[in-house]
Parts: sequence; structure tokens; C-alpha cells
Amino acid sequence: MDDGDLTAKLINPDDNSASNPLILSLTVYQNGILRMKIDEDPSHNPPKKRFQVPDVILPEFESTKLWLQRYSIDGDSFIVYLFDGYEAVVRSDPFEVFVREQGSGKRVLSFNSHGLFDFEQLRVKNEGDDWEERFRSHTDSRPYGPQSISFDISFYGADFVYGIPEHATSLSLKPTNGPGIEESEPYRLFNLDVFEYLHESPFGLYGSIPFMLSHGKSHGTSGFFWLNAAEMQIDVLGSGWDAESSIVLHPDQKRIDTLWMTEAGIVDAFFFIGPKPKDVVKQYASVTGTSALPQLFSTGYHQCRWNYRDEEDVKNVDSKFDEHDIPYDVLWLDIEHTDGKRYFTWDKVSFPNPEEMQKDLASRGRRMVTIVDPHIKRDDNYRIHKEATKNGYYVKDASGKDYDGWCWSGSSSYPDMLNPEIRSWWADKFAYTEYIGSTSSLYIWNDMNEPSVFNGPEVTMPRDALHYGNIEHRELHNAYGYYYHMATSEGLLKREGGKDRPFVLSRAFFPGTQRYGTVWTGDNTAEWEQLRVSVPMILTLGLTGITFAGADVGGFFGNPDTELLVRWYQVAAYLPFFRGHAHHDTKRREPWLFGEHNTELMRDAIRVRYTFLPYFYTLFREANVTGVPVARPLWMEFPYDEATFNNDEAFMVGNGLLVQGVYTQHAKDVTVYLPRDHTWYELKTGTAYKGGKTQKMEVTDADIPVFQRSGTIIPRKDRFRRSTVQMENDPYTLVIALDASGAAEGELYIDDGKSYEFKQGHGDCEVFDQILEIRE
Ligand code: NOJ
Repeated sequence: MDDGDLTAKLINPDDNSASNPLILSLTVYQNGILRMKIDEDPSHNPPKKRFQVPDVILPEFESTKLWLQRYSIDGDSFIVYLFDGYEAVVRSDPFEVFVREQGSGKRVLSFNSHGLFDFEQLRVKNEGDDWEERFRSHTDSRPYGPQSISFDISFYGADFVYGIPEHATSLSLKPTNGPGIEESEPYRLFNLDVFEYLHESPFGLYGSIPFMLSHGKSHGTSGFFWLNAAEMQIDVLGSGWDAESSIVLHPDQKRIDTLWMTEAGIVDAFFFIGPKPKDVVKQYASVTGTSALPQLFSTGYHQCRWNYRDEEDVKNVDSKFDEHDIPYDVLWLDIEHTDGKRYFTWDKVSFPNPEEMQKDLASRGRRMVTIVDPHIKRDDNYRIHKEATKNGYYVKDASGKDYDGWCWSGSSSYPDMLNPEIRSWWADKFAYTEYIGSTSSLYIWNDMNEPSVFNGPEVTMPRDALHYGNIEHRELHNAYGYYYHMATSEGLLKREGGKDRPFVLSRAFFPGTQRYGTVWTGDNTAEWEQLRVSVPMILTLGLTGITFAGADVGGFFGNPDTELLVRWYQVAAYLPFFRGHAHHDTKRREPWLFGEHNTELMRDAIRVRYTFLPYFYTLFREANVTGVPVARPLWMEFPYDEATFNNDEAFMVGNGLLVQGVYTQHAKDVTVYLPRDHTWYELKTGTAYKGGKTQKMEVTDADIPVFQRSGTIIPRKDRFRRSTVQMENDPYTLVIALDASGAAEGELYIDDGKSYEFKQGHGDCEVFDQILEIRE
């Protein structure tokens, strides 16, 4: 016992090679969270310290550590009290760690039950060691040899597993390996700028969150999180995968086995016992944070395009929204607004008066967002480059020179965001005196922060590039974008003297991103299947902490046909982050360009979103307090209803609205499963449907099926306005759906929509906890 933790030496008895013992430590935190670390033993002088990701785990979480007092020893097992009714067991030979119910002994989660734990230790290179790895024209020097870690994790009582974004796949994760399963790659977690990504692929996209949840009817929900920023691959093993193995693992308990592999770093693993879906997301949020409360304006509709060409174009688009009575809150400028992709500058010909342009938008209550990417143009006349070079602020290549890669700005270097001093320098660049032409209604978009390097291996930075503290890029890769997003978000906070909440959209993400801003699913395509997959992608992000997420409405690449575009608006209007965006090669697609009827349909979809903003904002506050996402898989609300476990075509907004997307062309009807034990009121007509059945619903092009659950009250603002600003003093409409006993309850959260005063209790406390109960 050491400092309230259990520590142990892991010795490989079969190994007569030179491998050193490893150090294991086990810590228990409040609310049933077990943390296990395994690293090299410093007393054996490894050639360097392996990277342990800082700045993700909340200090408040660390302080909930429980001093290990209640433990016992049973043969070769060491048993630790974890939580009411749960204990953790460390068995020494064979080495295994598991969480089980006290008394019944039923397992919840286990580590290394199949003995797949492996840990390659760092080595000093000797003459003749060939550790280099080649990929196309790139060579990775791998100066410490291979350093991978792998192990198996079993989830007991699990019918399905979920999580580990970002992949364009179904919500429940299909097995990648096992008898009868079509050979597939493992799910990959490696932040990459993927060109025209495919749906139904385990390939890793722009962000990574190594957090998996399981759900089933016997245990309920549990979770496993591995804090590690190196490339990771995860196999979900289909039942029978271990048929040949001599290990027989609790045949009476249904389970899903998974295999986790990483290239570098340490084991820093968290086990969450649940047992309800909301318990697991809360446990995860207690470790990595809840999502920041967004400013109210950012929950409205955003209009983006690569690119709005000039000030004239901006003015036109803005006025067309008014002309067509379509509300919107934010107009976005992509990379072409800059002077030669030098971020923090403006193209002098197209955007000669950026301040006036923003002020003009602001006079109608609208905001602007500009893009600021991490690649800095290597131009000796560019202020940011000069400062970064002089101060030694760039990531270094393996030889120690400033790393030089190719991106939008041509030859570019990348600030080393791992270093807090560099983050602070970056944050200062958002001051009004530094970012000339910016005003208080300007917010920021961080793109290409995987980081994307056009001429790098797999379009990213070489793994042997060097960061602050001699950390290799391979160890940090998946967190680079997170640090960049953090620095930008802190910049907006500093700019306002800490008063207003930042808004920063990021493409890359990592655990903890939710504290700094919003995420979108990158460069999707204008296809029906991509509309369909956007729903599970966004639900998965919500399950793993990042609730403020969305997909480019209409699809980034290609031209959506009108029907697809309209459906996309109808579905996305109910998802947390709502932005239309398109590639520069596509045709213009602002909502008024498709004839009067279609304009009306898109207007209706956007207006519906605006009427529900009080509800969304209340849910964003709930997410901010608890970690429970705004858009939820059905099983999160109905964990006992098996018919929901695998459904990712419908989703809940809060606990009150069920939204069924329409994902096919010329649909005349759509089947909707309405969870049992409730009555469901169709939003438009108020028609009541009994739950526990699949309904065939007729659909027209006018809208998609949406239902309100019995027993809920949903706050709305029904007056039509141009943007959120004009809605401020509008009256609320409460839509009350009574349950069988004639009761209903709901919540409404109100504050100033922008500042941090809510933290002092202004606004929220009076209303947030109040339940409105209305009896017949
Ligand atoms: C890639 C982003 O994903 C896309 O949204 C953006 O328009 C382009 N970069 C240009 O900045």
C-alpha cells in the first residue's frame, strides 16, 4: 500500500529474456471508479519516461480518491472495496484484474482474462538493431524500438458495445473478428484528415476517444476508458473467437470481449461500473469533464461555405435569410478570407473592412466565425511565423530542426501546443489588438488540427517528430488537436477578460475536448447513407462526452439533390450543432435556391429548431451539470427495452422528444419503434400511439416523424424571429403531454445566454431544479 493506492510489481515468470518488472498501481475514486496504471519501473532506468497525457483528468476528480483501507487477501487475489455492492480483484497468477458484484460474485468488467496483456519496453539502440519503419517515401526512425501495449477487456452482461469515436459506423459496434465474421480491420483511433471517408468503415477519422460503453439487459451499462494519445486499434471479438483457447470464462455470464492495442504511452485505465447508462456517462464526465455551456446563439443555425467570397457575398447571403424569413445566427468564413492562408489576417481585396462587416451583421443580432488552422506559413514577413521561429515554438523534426510540412499555406510549421507557454502565446493572438479586424461578435473555427500535413505520412506529422519535453509525436498524436483547441478556446476567454463563453469549433478531438467547444464530423459526402450515418456518429460523440456535435448539413462533398438536402435539414434540426457547409467545388445551396416549395420546407425545419431552443438550451445545461448528452440513443432513456439497444435511426432529444430520421429517397412511409410503457404523441397532430410497438408512419416531404413522450413538458418559443437575439424576451410555450395518471414534468433553464454568471447561481438555480407539475 502506498499513499492510499495499491502498488505491485508485475513480473513475467515465463520470461527469461531481459524484460524488467513493470509497476502497477490501483486507485479507487468515489462513485465506483477504478483506475489502473501500468508503466515501466523507473528504478530500472528505462531510456526515457513514457508519455502520460497531462491536462485531461480533472483535478477535482483526483481529489475524489479514496484511501484504500478496506481490502482483503484471498489466496492469490487481493480484493478492494469499490462501491456499494462492488469490489475490484487483482489476481496475481495468472495476472488478471476485474470488477465484480459483492456477494453474487458476478463480474462486470475484466482486464487480461485472456492473457493478452503485452508491454514492449523501451530500449537503447545497439549496433545492428533495425527499428526503422518505412511507409511509402517516409521513414520512422523509432529511436526506442517498438513500444506497444495490448490487453483484453471483457464486458459482462453485455448485449452490445458502443463508443470509441470517430468512425463512420453504426452506433452498436459490430464485431471485427471471430468465427463467421467477415474479416475486418480493428477500429482504429488515429486522428487523420481522411479524404471522402466511407460509411461503414472502422477506419479512424479526425478524432479519438478511447472510451467504450457496454449495455445489456442483465448488468445494465459499464464503461472502460484508456487515457492514451498514441495510435490505438481495438478489436470487438465476436462470440466463439476464443473457442480454441484453454481459458473458459464464466460460461453462465454473457459477455463481449475486446482487444486493445496501442503504439506507445502507458496503461492508464478507468473502469466504470454504471450500472445505468446515465451513471456511466456521469462517471466518465467526472474524470474528463462535462461539456462547456454554449452561448445561446451557437445553438441556433449556422451558415457556412468554402467560401463566401467577399463582403458583398456576405451581405447578400445575410439579407436573403431575412428576405426569405429564415432565422440564422452565424455566418462563417473559410480559409479564402485570409491573406494567402496566413491566419489572423484578411484578404485585403475581398475583405477590406472586416470590422464594419461584423458590426453590420451584429446590428441584426448575428455573429461571424472565421477559420484559424494550426499550420503557420513559413513566410519571413508573417508576424506569427517570425515570433514562433524566434521563440522556438514549433514542433521539431527528428533531427531537431523546426518541422516543415505542406498544407493550405504551402510550406508550414506547427506550434507545439503541448507546451503551456506556447498555448498561452497562441491564446494571446486572439486579443483585439493582435487579431486586427476582429470584433467581439467574431468566433473561431479550428480545422486541420489532427494535424493535417499534405506531404506527411498518412497526411499527418511523422511519428518521430519531437514535442516539448522530448515527447515523440507518436506518443501525443491523438491529443495534438485537443491542445490546439484548448489554446484557441482560452484565447477567446482571455479576449473577453474571462467574461463570455468561447465558441470554437474543432475537427480533431480527444477526451476533454467537451470542455473547450464544439466538434463536427468533417468532410462527409452528399449521399443518403452519409445522412444516415451522421446520426450514430453524433450519438456516439454524445455518449463519449462531446454532446455539442454535428455534421455538415447537405454533405460537404458533392451536390445533394433537393430531397436529400431537405431531409438533411429536417434531421439535423434536432441534433446539437446545426450548420450547413459545402466544398468550394459544389453548387451554391443556400436554402432559397431550390424553388419556393423547398425553401418553405427548409425554412420550416430551421424554424422548428428555433422554437425548441429553450428545450435545447435546458438540455445543454443538463449536459454541463451532469455529462448526460443532449441527443441520446434510445437505450439511454429506455435501458430495459431491448428493442432499442441496436436502434440508431431514431434518437431522443432529452427525455421528451423522439426523432425518427428519414434516410431514403421518395419515402412514403417509415417504421418507427416507440419504446414501451409510454404513450407517444406525434408532434404535428397530437395523435397518441401506444409504446412497445413498431409503427408504420406515413411521411410527406414536409417533415420527419417526431413524438413527445407522455409525462413530459417541453418549453418552446413559438414566435418567428431572425435570430436568437430577437427571441430574448419572447414568451414561452409549454407543451404538456400527460401520463396515464394525469401528471407531467419538465425543466426550463434560463440565464443570460452568454456569460459565466450562471456559475455564481445567477439565473439557473431558481429554475433548474424546479419541477413544473400540472395535474388535470
Ligand atoms: C477541411 C474542412 O473539413 C472543411 O470543412 C473546410 O471547408 C476545408 N478544410 C477548407 O478549409
